[in-house]
Amino acid sequence: MVTEQAVLEALRGVSDPDQHRDIVALGLIRDLTIAESEVTFTLAFTTQSPASKATMHSMASRLVSRLPGVSKVQVKMGGGPARPSAPAAHGHAHAPPGPQPGPQKSAEFIPEVKHTVAVSSGKGGVGKSTVSVNLAVALRDFGPVGIIDSDVYGPDIPLMLGSRGRPGMFENRIIPVEAQGLKMMSIGLLVNEREPLVWRGPMIHSFIQQMLKDVMWGALDYLVFDMPPGTGDAQLSLSQVIPLSGVVMVTTPQEVALLDVRKAIGMFQRLNVPILGVVENMSYFVAPDTGHRYAIFGEGGGQRLADEYGVPLLAKIPLDQDTRLAGDEGTPITIRRPDSPQARIFRELAVAVRGRLDELGALRPLPTIG
Ligand SMILES: Nc1ncnc2c1ncn2[C@@H]1O[C@H](COP(=O)(O)OP(=O)(O)OP(=O)(O)O)[C@@H](O)[C@H]1O
Ligand SMILES: [Mg+2]
Repeated sequence: MVTEQAVLEALRGVSDPDQHRDIVALGLIRDLTIAESEVTFTLAFTTQSPASKATMHSMASRLVSRLPGVSKVQVKMGGGPARPSAPAAHGHAHAPPGPQPGPQKSAEFIPEVKHTVAVSSGKGGVGKSTVSVNLAVALRDFGPVGIIDSDVYGPDIPLMLGSRGRPGMFENRIIPVEAQGLKMMSIGLLVNEREPLVWRGPMIHSFIQQMLKDVMWGALDYLVFDMPPGTGDAQLSLSQVIPLSGVVMVTTPQEVALLDVRKAIGMFQRLNVPILGVVENMSYFVAPDTGHRYAIFGEGGGQRLADEYGVPLLAKIPLDQDTRLAGDEGTPITIRRPDSPQARIFRELAVAVRGRLDELGALRPLPTIG
């Protein structure tokens, strides 16, 4: 059985003659797939000369074909983004001196990620993590999706995705865990579950930076960030480290939750992060026995908030026991009961988020590769 790690290990034997670093460290390997004994990948060349490209291509193909268990190797040549500061983009400790990436330049940390979507709220416990995982699962219908649990204080995503795996390491880069068809990273995967962590601002900043530049996310259409509650360091760091495509604000219909979410929206606006819209969670409860609908946390709060800021109300998600259970048991409702009304609402949310991203993308170019 050929592993991704074995292939990458072999490819480390190929150096870029111009940059004197191996092609894995330079981040030139893209779309690596292993189907039984057949290995396919793309060499995402940037500014290499045609002669260097040809040499690297044949070396790469030869080294991988020599691996035990490999019967066929297909090496494609891709354009890749022009990244003159490629070594710095991969967070190498000995990056050559040169222009340091400023706040807006760091899209090059994750050049193959098309859209970055944060899920935030003002208040804790309103359902950010539940919305993040189900939104991420629903977005898989449209392309590859990753999820980063940026809630350093209460990393819930591994539990909600039923993942016990540990991320792999390769050459100082982290291979994200695969969970429910998503690529996932969480501080919860790196530390002991019961270990209390005391986070200071700079640590959060470097954690978020590490999640972006040291993790091999590969090509993703969407990268979803589950945020901690509030308007603290994580929100600030994230908006500084990458240009976020947008943020989804989660609230309950209650006035107290709305007050807090206003503060959070204000903060994202000051940071120039587009507000994709509002998700009203725990909007209503439909009694399973009578079918009667109850507005447990009040009514209309999400819509009022959306109108106030001129953004869409993206979804109204019912309070529902199966949604809670599904999260606790590690299989999101969108996977556990894909035909349920709750799952349908999350799929509609994904469509609405896509629509907003397209709409905003027309106004503001997103960091995509050519
Ligand atoms: N629509 C819903 N129906 C039923 N239970 C829900 C719903 N949304 C969230 N919950 C439950 O409420 C609790 C809090 O939700 P969740 O962890 O998603 O919120 P959060 O905003 O991420 O919280 P925190 O601020 O602590 O990170 C969880 O037990 C979750 O299962
Ligand atoms: Mg959470």
